[in-house]
Amino acid sequence: MTTKEYKDRIDAALETYFVSPPESLAGLAESMRYSLLAGGKRIRPTLVLEFCRICGGDIDAALPVACAIEMLHTYSLIHDDLPCMDDDALRRGRPTNHVVYGECTATLAGDALQAEAFGTILRSALPAERKARCAEFLADAVGLDGMCGGQFLDMLGEGKKLSEQELADINSRKTGALLTAACRMGVAAGGGNEAQLEAASLYGAAIGAAFQIRDDMLDVLGNEQELGKPIGSDAQEEKNTYMALYGAEHCSQMIEKLTARAKDVLSGVFDDTAFLSALADSMAVRTN
Ligand code: IPE
Ligand code: IPE
Ligand code: MG
Ligand code: MG
Ligand code: MG
Repeated sequence: MTTKEYKDRIDAALETYFVSPPESLAGLAESMRYSLLAGGKRIRPTLVLEFCRICGGDIDAALPVACAIEMLHTYSLIHDDLPCMDDDALRRGRPTNHVVYGECTATLAGDALQAEAFGTILRSALPAERKARCAEFLADAVGLDGMCGGQFLDMLGEGKKLSEQELADINSRKTGALLTAACRMGVAAGGGNEAQLEAASLYGAAIGAAFQIRDDMLDVLGNEQELGKPIGSDAQEEKNTYMALYGAEHCSQMIEKLTARAKDVLSGVFDDTAFLSALADSMAVRTN
């Protein structure tokens, strides 16, 4: 499948969630769908489906797992944009959730999307052992020692000068963990073996690190229209970023190395790595 075919498939599946809430909860469901269906790149669910496929799994059966990780990711974006966090007003080319629905509803929309993500995995038709592993990988990636921990450290680091090691640690938690989980959940959903799980973890960690460095570059050099989110948010919040600490050229070199590593760790473990290699290459030079 092509990237576009995956995205279309994921978008169509996401459309089917939260369509008939109890009447009194229509406002909350609307705000959840507002952010979920705003048109992200769908990289994490694409990783789930492709890793499932190259492990010999059934991508239709894994589709709920793919949707679940996008729900979780969307929750992280809604909360990341809140005034108490990055305080941003534009996301996925639209006013942020709290700008449209207010802070209270936006907070609850994020909370509900997180719970629904786990429910969506556990209600899927995958074998019980596979869906339990998917839920466990996701929980590990986003809790105290994962994305939330990373967001906490990112916030604590505002206005301070961190070491490269500290910054790498923040990035691997706040962004790398969920991208790694996407790869691992794909392997779990597809019934892959331990060697495949390990290679998926290494690939996820490498593209995850590159992904946040590219994100930080785009926050300075990007085009707001194309990016669909504000430029200059990191400087405004006095964030530690590779861009601020080392500049664009150093960032590009790091991304190149990480991308080469990502492609390297897959060979010998999976037969068909063309899609994932091309995806890593395209993520390295993305402009949105
Ligand atoms: C943005 O993620 C948040 C980061 C982890 C840097 P994406 O760049 O994948 O955002 P969408 O899903 O395409 O909107
Ligand atoms: C956010 O990093 C990572 C998340 C856990 C959402 P950023 O704060 O740099 O993401 P953007 O630039 O707002 O998408
Ligand atoms: Mg942030
Ligand atoms: Mg942000
Ligand atoms: Mg950013």
